[in-house]
Amino acid sequence: MHQTGMAVAKKQGRNRRGLLSSHNVIQGYGLARYLGRSVIVQPMELSLVDHWICGAETALRTLSGGSRADRPTPRPEGSPAAELDAAEKRLAGALMRVNHVGEVCAQALYQAQAAATSSPELKAQMAQAAREEVDHLAWTEERLAELGDRPSLLNPLWYGGAFLIGLAAGRLGDRVSLGFVVETERQVGRHLESHLERLPAGDAASRAIVAQMRTDEAEHAQAAQAAGGIDLPAPVRGAMRLAAKVMTGTAHYL
Ligand SMILES: [Fe+2]
Ligand SMILES: [Fe+2]
Repeated sequence: MHQTGMAVAKKQGRNRRGLLSSHNVIQGYGLARYLGRSVIVQPMELSLVDHWICGAETALRTLSGGSRADRPTPRPEGSPAAELDAAEKRLAGALMRVNHVGEVCAQALYQAQAAATSSPELKAQMAQAAREEVDHLAWTEERLAELGDRPSLLNPLWYGGAFLIGLAAGRLGDRVSLGFVVETERQVGRHLESHLERLPAGDAASRAIVAQMRTDEAEHAQAAQAAGGIDLPAPVRGAMRLAAKVMTGTAHYL
């Protein structure tokens, strides 16, 4: 039985969207054409305007607090969480705001790096990681609200800066770009480790979220390394640590 050209186009378009839509790096499919009895599906690059629109949509969703997690929010096991006093809530809120900023930056970085590569495999890998980062974004946002705190006022600035850095990393080639992911995820992992120590002892809810994020970030780093990410030179790693320090130090308060 022959499938119609449109059916094939719809099916492939759906597959592509399913794979990549969260990262807005989908390749568009044109209308299927018939040549005799055979069916040709014509792949079509998204136009520059399409890319800008998709990119703007992701940025708006990230910055407006409209992100939805695919996975349920990690919750602590056992007895109900202890009530936090005002100072503990303030500290937990500041730390979770920093983590939320990290996830805002992750969206920008992955989007920019996916846009910069021509490799469909790398785009797919970035998209998979970005989907999990959306979970992190939504979880930290939710926890901030539970703590009666707010996201960083400078999120548009963090997003824009991270996007430019991701674009620059992506332009240096896929192996450098993947190496950048490896190093970023490792630094984020160490940072989350420190937060597990600094969060108030009674804040099991924030700990459960941070612990799952740490596990996911380690997997992102391993996947990027396995895909061919190179070790970045020490001065670059140092510059990245410095940039992260400025961001985390500022986001703690703003
Ligand atoms: Fe993350
Ligand atoms: Fe990650």
